Amino acid sequence: MKRILTYGTFDLLHFGHIEILRRAKALGDYLIVALSTDEFNEIKNKKAYHNFETRKKMLEAIRYVDLVIPENSWDQKRNDVLEYKVDIVVMGSDWEKNEKFECLKDICEVKYLSRTEGISTTKIKKDLKLQEPINEINQVPNN
Ligand code: CTP
Repeated sequence: MKRILTYGTFDLLHFGHIEILRRAKALGDYLIVALSTDEFNEIKNKKAYHNFETRKKMLEAIRYVDLVIPENSWDQKRNDVLEYKVDIVVMGSDWEKNEKFECLKDICEVKYLSRTEGISTTKIKKDLKLQEPINEINQVPNN
């Protein structure tokens, strides 16, 4: 039984997230997602739209995901790999050669998968800000 582990915030779940989870699961039999907590996001100066519990429930509803655990800090990764007997840590290529994952190579395999082009949580937030407010679009002219 091959166990896979990946990390992320997975806010405003999108197709890029689904694709990395699908491809990560295909590398083994059991996929664990370490999901950034709201407190950890604060440390990273990130603010998710959905809180941890909501993001967790959404991930748990995905067929590729077997277990969601909290990611509370940068330095828990070694412990996670050992505790959950992880064979491969998988991340998107934005993390390629990053020391935070490279240093795990003595205890497991580390793989980087290419990101899905053209989508990210940041882009969704930006694009929605550029849209006209919905009630303005739907307003009936009053003359
Ligand atoms: N990911 C991906 N393809 C995308 C977006 C994300 O493969 N288009 C991967 C990331 O590389 C990471 C995982 O999905 O391994 C979780 O990424 P996360 O940072 O939560 O999502 P992003 O959309 O990149 O969020 P942000 O814009 O806030 O960085």
